[in-house]
Amino acid sequence: MKLWGGRFSKSTDKSVDDFNSSIRFDQRMYRQDITGSIAHAKMLGRQGIIEKSESDLIVKTLGEILDDIENGKVEFLIDAEDIHMNVETILISRIGDTGKRLHTGRSRNDQVALDVRMYLRDEADELNEMLDEILETILNVSEENIETIMPGYTHLQKAQPITLAHHFMAYYEMFKRDKERLCDWRKRVNVMPLGSGALAGTTYPLDREFVASELGFDSVTKNSLDGVSDRDFVCEMAFVLSVIMMHLSRFSEEIILWSSNEFGFVDLDDAYSTGSSIMPQKKNPDVAELARGKAGRVFGDLMGLLTVMKGLPLAYNKDMQEDKEQIFDALDTVKMCLPVFCGMLKTMKIRKENMLNGAKGGFTNATDVADYLVKKGLPFRDAHGVVGRMVAYCLDKDMALDELTIEEYKTFSEIFEEDVYEAISLKTCVNLRTVTGGPAFETVKKVIEGYKK
Ligand code: ARG
Repeated sequence: MKLWGGRFSKSTDKSVDDFNSSIRFDQRMYRQDITGSIAHAKMLGRQGIIEKSESDLIVKTLGEILDDIENGKVEFLIDAEDIHMNVETILISRIGDTGKRLHTGRSRNDQVALDVRMYLRDEADELNEMLDEILETILNVSEENIETIMPGYTHLQKAQPITLAHHFMAYYEMFKRDKERLCDWRKRVNVMPLGSGALAGTTYPLDREFVASELGFDSVTKNSLDGVSDRDFVCEMAFVLSVIMMHLSRFSEEIILWSSNEFGFVDLDDAYSTGSSIMPQKKNPDVAELARGKAGRVFGDLMGLLTVMKGLPLAYNKDMQEDKEQIFDALDTVKMCLPVFCGMLKTMKIRKENMLNGAKGGFTNATDVADYLVKKGLPFRDAHGVVGRMVAYCLDKDMALDELTIEEYKTFSEIFEEDVYEAISLKTCVNLRTVTGGPAFETVKKVIEGYKK
């Protein structure tokens, strides 16, 4: 018979059991479920709601069940529906009537709200470490490439010279914000819902603060309806995960472009690329492509979660069971992507020569030629026009701006002198940009040093 079977005269249809049951996917919360129950049982004993000896026996047995699950000695049952009732069923099978007292002053509605919060909190700690790893990887690659000049792009057209360190450190900023978002999210997840009961709290003198402190929560929820029906923290985590994937996907896109024959900026390690079953010459950036592709599924999880929640009246509705597979999928996906992406970054070879050559083409120093004229007194708009005509001339002759002779320069403006060559060298172009946030070697170096501390 079901734990809730009292008012029923028929057993559940097999198809309903299969349909209703969440044990397939919520069993991964077994540790949080048992830890939460242990805290609840201790509190019941302390408050005299159940006998101290019964509380002790429940706590001890729950500990044993936890060990048994961890050692693969427990088989969960589909018709016990979910992890909460599976654990309770096992408890009752081991200690009988005493086990039946655990659920006093509690509902599965506040229990699942607790479990999900605790599970996501634990996952977030792991995710945080993974973000640290990608930040460190980016920092290391950047540190080795402070002077690696490459073209910067807008519209995917060569724009101005920058450095690889500067480019990578842009991703550092993104993943750093992701980490901050996760930290901020933690404040809102770390509120303890037990005591909300099914929806309207409970008549027992629960010590919610005790349970909260046992379980490492900062505070307790302030409204029992909200306590059982809030899944904002699930949606919000899916959003944080989506932004991480969006960043990873943009980064992937660049690695894919850069590893192409046309760019040739990086060479992926054999261990982090794959071949073709038909074309013997191929080496494909599958890791980056999959990370880019998997962004789509995490965005889908976010959209799915928001859609599940949008029409639900207060308080608990079974629809909310659908939160789990989506947030688990999003988490699993991000946790799968980050480490392998780091491995790819750590092992890929940077082809500095090709990056430099890339920066030499495409007139990336054209702005600096104009700035040269401005510094010698020409208004910027006039300078812009002069250099535009020079670019057209160079395109016609298939030359770069710094390949023109000084005589040719002078045909465009009398202002040009020999010092123009130095002023528009790629290195000068980069190193004059010492503005805060700019790509100058020393400027980026200081940023990197600041983050290393
Ligand atoms: N398995 C359920 C879920 O994940 C647990 C809560 C069930 N509560 C209920 N009243 N049926 O949402």
